Amino acid sequence: MNAALFQELIRKKPVILAPLEDVSDLVFRRLCRKYGATITVTEFVNVEGLLRGCRNAKRKIALAEDDQLTAIQIYGSDPTRLAEAARFAESAQPFYLDINCGCWVPKIAGRGAGAGWLRDPLAMVAMAKMVVESVSVPVTVKTRIGYGPESDMPIVDLARRLEDAGIQALTIHCRTAQMGHSGAADWSWALRAKEVVKIPVIVNGDVKVAEDAKRAIEMTGCEGVMVGRRAIEHPWIFREARALLDRNEAVAPPSHLERIALCREHLVANAEARGEPYGVRVTRRHLAGYLKGLPGAAILRQRLLVEDSLSTCLTILDEAETRLPHAVVANAAALTG
Ligand SMILES: Cc1cc2nc3c(=O)[nH]c(=O)nc-3n(C[C@H](O)[C@H](O)[C@H](O)COP(=O)(O)O)c2cc1C
Repeated sequence: MNAALFQELIRKKPVILAPLEDVSDLVFRRLCRKYGATITVTEFVNVEGLLRGCRNAKRKIALAEDDQLTAIQIYGSDPTRLAEAARFAESAQPFYLDINCGCWVPKIAGRGAGAGWLRDPLAMVAMAKMVVESVSVPVTVKTRIGYGPESDMPIVDLARRLEDAGIQALTIHCRTAQMGHSGAADWSWALRAKEVVKIPVIVNGDVKVAEDAKRAIEMTGCEGVMVGRRAIEHPWIFREARALLDRNEAVAPPSHLERIALCREHLVANAEARGEPYGVRVTRRHLAGYLKGLPGAAILRQRLLVEDSLSTCLTILDEAETRLPHAVVANAAALTG
């Protein structure tokens, strides 16, 4: 890993694909990069699974040749095991290693991993220091503003201490753990944390359109933004945000044809990577978003979301494409031409 490249990229308003369990796998990372994601992050990987050699954990850290700008995220509750797992994950040559200190799900946070670390910020800092000292790749932390409902969020003091512990960047999901994914993200905490550290801070939470990315960076002074849920249904957000950040340009939304093409591409890639029917099924959560605004989208969704066979899905999409107004025009031109 090139440390200079890390510093350069992480300071240049990166628009980062968030770590998303069951979503930010190799296939989806590739799609998001194609649409302009600067950096991508794997699904979180359980350190015990990784150290046991569990198949799913191994799949999650397996990076492809074009994954040079992919970080691996790990989670666990035991500092020593996190450090060991970090060394193991380092051998997969990630762009950097990220420690999950933000997962709110009770079976994870309740056992002291993920956002559970926010219950004891000093222990989180000591753990991060141990991980930093165990590896030579840059280490970053992704966390929330606090556990909730603190009267004053610990994130500002925590940011300073994590910087002293040697982490190279901090991502702040601007909600408390108790909020889960509901309620509005409060970016003002990212601003306050950014004010006290020199390391790059990435703001996360509620970046839904390109304008949000620009606003979040302008409002907080953070180096970049991380996009989670919106990317699942609209990976075009990366090119839209890039165009706005780089050239102050609003790009046209994806055309109907492009929407259908992405459904095809994602289905085919997942079927190749995971086989049928699993690869088809895991693509479903994306399709409703991809098809938004298409004529007849509701019926199309109903048909696609119950279909396990790749070839039938592709036929349904082909039929939808021939029904598009542009296709009628194109066919007429071909007939008369
Ligand atoms: C389906 C799903 C899976 C997620 N998996 C992870 C994960 O593995 N690691 C992590 O740090 N956060 C995970 N998150 C949280 C996101 O990375 C992100 O912090 C959160 O969704 C807020 O950003 P958003 O408003 O852009 O979605 C997940 C969120 C969702 C919706």
